[in-house]
Amino acid sequence: MLTAITREVSPGLARCELTHLKRRPINLKAAIRQHRAYCQCLAQLGCNLIALPAEPGLPDSVFVEDAAVVLDELAVITRPGAESRRGELAAIEEALTPFRQIERIRAPATLDGGDVLHAGSTLYVGITSRTNRQGVAQLREIVQPHGYRVKSVSVTGCLHLKSACTFVGQETLLINRGWVDEELFGGWNLLDVDPAEPAAANALLVGETIVYPTAYPRTRSLLEDHEFIVKTVDNTELAKAEGGVTCCSLILSS
Ligand code: GLY
Repeated sequence: MLTAITREVSPGLARCELTHLKRRPINLKAAIRQHRAYCQCLAQLGCNLIALPAEPGLPDSVFVEDAAVVLDELAVITRPGAESRRGELAAIEEALTPFRQIERIRAPATLDGGDVLHAGSTLYVGITSRTNRQGVAQLREIVQPHGYRVKSVSVTGCLHLKSACTFVGQETLLINRGWVDEELFGGWNLLDVDPAEPAAANALLVGETIVYPTAYPRTRSLLEDHEFIVKTVDNTELAKAEGGVTCCSLILSS
């Protein structure tokens, strides 16, 4: 059985952190509607939803992925690189405690869950403005005893590693090679996003289905040509806050 932890969109979303995007008006009602449809999609795919209430004082708190790295054996509460996001951790830890042993990343390390790409027994970790080398080292120390390898990856041009590359099943990574050095990903099949859709590499695998933004029809066709099962969601409003489909849930087997 799968559990998905989500958090409702903050009414303070307009004050979100932005790193690579210019601030544009966000339609809060539409963002809430789109996020509800995303949650329904997860439920239709068999997830038991734990929906945390909105946090008006935490603009980015809908992006629960950044607060934790959840593996079968344990959950690692992160230390987000943006100070404004550190208040997000307590509720996520509370939600995860019934399911997993909890470990924590500690200062001066920083780590955003969006920088951690789990593929097989490897955790690829992006070095970005949010995740530093101490974060990678601490994560390695925590997960190595459980049989995971941790490899650091340089990322340029986007917020998180998972903006540039995600695991989509069938031994395949969906990737924008312009934002990440693909050399480290030997052993996986690499499927390139359509060049007209540089932000299209963020895809969320739930069971056998890829939850995928409506905004990238060309890359969606590529995925379907390769016989992936794709279910689309509209996340155009949260995308203005630099959030993708992986960002809005923590999915764990329970
Ligand atoms: N707005 C998402 C983030 O910067 O973390």
